[in-house]
Amino acid sequence: MKILLADDDNSLRKVLLFKLRQKGFDVIGVEDGQKALDELKRAQYDLLLSDIRMPKLDGIELLEQSRVIQPELKTILLTAHASVPQAVAAVKLGAFDYITKPFEDDVLFIAIEKALRINRLEDENKQLKGKLKAQNYISNFVGISKPFKEMLKLVDKIADTDTTVLISGESGTGKEVIAKSIHYKSHRSDKEFIAVNCAAIPKELIESELFGHVKGAFTGAVRDKKGKFELADGGTLFLDEIGDLNIELQAKLLRAIQERIIEPVGSEHNKAIDIRLLAATNVNLKKKVSEGKFREDLYYRLNVIPIHVPSLTERKDDVPILVKEFVTKFGKESEITVSTKLLDSLMHYSWPGNVRELENLIERMVILRKSNELTEKDLPDDFGVDDTPSSKVEESNDKSPESYLSFHDAEKKLVIDTLNRFAWNRTKTAKFLQIPRHVLIYRMKKYDIYYNKKEK
Ligand SMILES: Nc1ncnc2c1ncn2[C@@H]1O[C@H](COP(=O)(O)OP(=O)(O)OP(=O)(O)O)[C@@H](O)[C@H]1O
Ligand SMILES: [Mg+2]
Repeated sequence: MKILLADDDNSLRKVLLFKLRQKGFDVIGVEDGQKALDELKRAQYDLLLSDIRMPKLDGIELLEQSRVIQPELKTILLTAHASVPQAVAAVKLGAFDYITKPFEDDVLFIAIEKALRINRLEDENKQLKGKLKAQNYISNFVGISKPFKEMLKLVDKIADTDTTVLISGESGTGKEVIAKSIHYKSHRSDKEFIAVNCAAIPKELIESELFGHVKGAFTGAVRDKKGKFELADGGTLFLDEIGDLNIELQAKLLRAIQERIIEPVGSEHNKAIDIRLLAATNVNLKKKVSEGKFREDLYYRLNVIPIHVPSLTERKDDVPILVKEFVTKFGKESEITVSTKLLDSLMHYSWPGNVRELENLIERMVILRKSNELTEKDLPDDFGVDDTPSSKVEESNDKSPESYLSFHDAEKKLVIDTLNRFAWNRTKTAKFLQIPRHVLIYRMKKYDIYYNKKEK
């Protein structure tokens, strides 16, 4: 427990420092408000004990400014009689408490204990909230098939370690969800989970994106910027699509992982970082290694624990429960059912886009539904590159993979057409499509449809 004591009365400050230290507290004393503020900028404290009348910066100003730097800091004002009205006002502004001078030791100790107890409760509360968030998050991640459960077992086993994990699997299988679950199940769950998509960032920017840069490092670097490694410090860094990282950066990444230090672009100083590293790929990295496109040493550094996410065709038993999950997700409060026949066709489809494709399909069907029972009639006309040799499917066997694409295009077109129809009024568009406004916005994002930009 760290306490900062600010009081310009030298003898009082010395006596208090002595008594508090005797009680086992870690206390630093300063003689004015400005010094206190500097100290708060330098280090984290649990409690501030502050006089009100002090030179340079008084206790009230100190309270206000400290809120910006350390919003969770508890402040107890030590006040002479004349300043009681001010102290009362300060409590209204967010000071934790005040005590009037002169005071008995016990009065001070009780106030301190109270503040520290509240601190502990708040910490606990935060942790519980984090756990709850994790629980909610993970409970929406469903599956009952054997391969899925096997994979979850592995996830549980390795989650609360600091081991590097390489998650592989086809596009849309849930690699990012797994990465987040690992983070939430680890002791780092109350720290940041930072994801970087190595494929989405232009080559010239990725180094600064990962490691940060200092002001003036290159044109446009107008101020220091922290990289993702630093942002993830204490937490988890997720490098998505790691197979797309260019070879030059692979070397720099290797060094950062091996030594756990980074060097921001243009900086001469290294920074130590403490991160859990997770990486994902939907290409066969080993093959890339043999083709000379991916460094072998980096591959082994990343592939400490490999987790393979099975494709949806390898775990068709999961289709019904996923359908149920997505119907509830997109149907919100309406009670939507799914006909057996529809479920059957969904189970026999090949799902090249895996869970993401299933999710998008259900979203679309729920939005465009004619009644609260979804049947095969609700399937889009172009649905069905099927892989089972049933009679119905044979007719559609001649369908090219384009039908998969055109399904997405059709969905996008529907959104754009409706937006145009209602002059880009999103509330009206959502109402017309019978979807909540946030679902519309989510879909606009998904298809890169931007406001005021009619067609991309
Ligand atoms: N088991 C599951 N239960 C519920 N939803 C899931 C499950 N698996 C995946 N999803 C959902 O499917 C979508 C795709 O998952 P995610 O983004 O994790 O896939 P990915 O493997 O990272 O894909 P890509 O390689 O394209 O990046 C997400 O919306 C995710 O919430
Ligand atoms: Mg992904």
